[in-house]
Amino acid sequence: MKTFSFNLKTTGTVKAALGRNMENVPAQFPELFRSVDKVCLVTGSDAPPSLRARALALFPEGARPHAYFWLPPSEKAKTLEQAGRLCSFLFGEGFSRGSLLIAAGGGAVTDLAGFAASVYMRGIRWVSAPTTFLAQIDAGLGGKTAVNLAGAKNIVGTFHQPALAVCDTAFLDSLPHAELRSGAGELVKYAMIGPGDLFRTVKKNLSKVLAGDRAALTSCVSACAAYKLKLVARDERDERGVREALNFGHTAGHAFEAMSAGRLPHGEAVARGLRFALIASRGAGILSKKDHDAMDALVGALRLKPALVRRDFRHFLSLVSRDKKARGANNRFVLAAGPGRLCPAEDLDAALLKKAFEGALK
Ligand SMILES: NC(=O)c1ccc[n+]([C@@H]2O[C@H](COP(=O)([O-])OP(=O)(O)OC[C@H]3O[C@@H](n4cnc5c(N)ncnc54)[C@H](O)[C@@H]3O)[C@@H](O)[C@H]2O)c1
Repeated sequence: MKTFSFNLKTTGTVKAALGRNMENVPAQFPELFRSVDKVCLVTGSDAPPSLRARALALFPEGARPHAYFWLPPSEKAKTLEQAGRLCSFLFGEGFSRGSLLIAAGGGAVTDLAGFAASVYMRGIRWVSAPTTFLAQIDAGLGGKTAVNLAGAKNIVGTFHQPALAVCDTAFLDSLPHAELRSGAGELVKYAMIGPGDLFRTVKKNLSKVLAGDRAALTSCVSACAAYKLKLVARDERDERGVREALNFGHTAGHAFEAMSAGRLPHGEAVARGLRFALIASRGAGILSKKDHDAMDALVGALRLKPALVRRDFRHFLSLVSRDKKARGANNRFVLAAGPGRLCPAEDLDAALLKKAFEGALK
């Protein structure tokens, strides 16, 4: 088991553990579990039984849950109503400020449970145990929590760091191939935003990841999680521009996801968003053809299926202008001048956006 410890300005120390078939995690972090009065395990209702069994192996005596809460599958979990349901449940079960939530699931579960943990009694501690590839390299780390609103992604949310994030790659053994592909979309993002060694790790492992190779999955989780935690440590609340890199491909990706009405998994929407950002970066004259082609080849390796998104450019424009990262501009995107060289751009013109929109959904 690899452990990480970060000192964050607002939150203090947060910890993470990465490995395979980990057991009795509380024994490694006794200070986190010593004064906990009650524990609630939050999972998705469609998760396989093996997921719950693995989660219970991670948290045996001392941290064994007193209560269990099931959320509806995937994005259906990310609503204010579900957050209210979870808070009411905790209150009914007598959970106090000294209680702990353990969120074991994909990014939808960690986003919703983290959000509920941040508002219940003005904030209780939570442990993030991401169980999809996408959540282990991204969603389950970093303390951004959110629910969707009126068909737009992550509009209501908080920053609330998990006291501990536990990425156990044994969870990935039961993951359907479609979810691995989705996670690979975020993996490709890391290659585009990170340093050269991360680009090389992703490039080397991408096809093996898509084939479910355990060693490749573990090495990508380890490299990406460590990189994300490093960015988070430098910019805990996304105020200094450091974390903005993690949004590469996401403004368009979130719009595609919303426009697909649930048919496009998050990571695949992000992969299309990456393609959008690369075409827009070419169009804005900041990305060479050579770099564009090298970066786009990674998206090509994902062999995306035709996107189930209505080609409605006006709807797309209205979604990107309402994106919370637009900050009052008509639109705001993270563009790339090359691998690891990103720059935000605002108010891009409609003709350039239309070309990128069409190219991304081809
Ligand atoms: N907070 C952040 O920083 C952040 C970053 C990236 C993405 N996200 C969010 O994450 C969400 C996407 O997360 P996701 O891709 O994990 O999808 P998801 O949470 O929707 O899960 C996908 C499916 O996988 C199933 N599943 C989970 N673990 C499994 C396992 N081990 N074995 C078998 N099935 C399993 C779930 O039950 C679900 O049906 C989106 O809502 C996105 O907005 C958040």
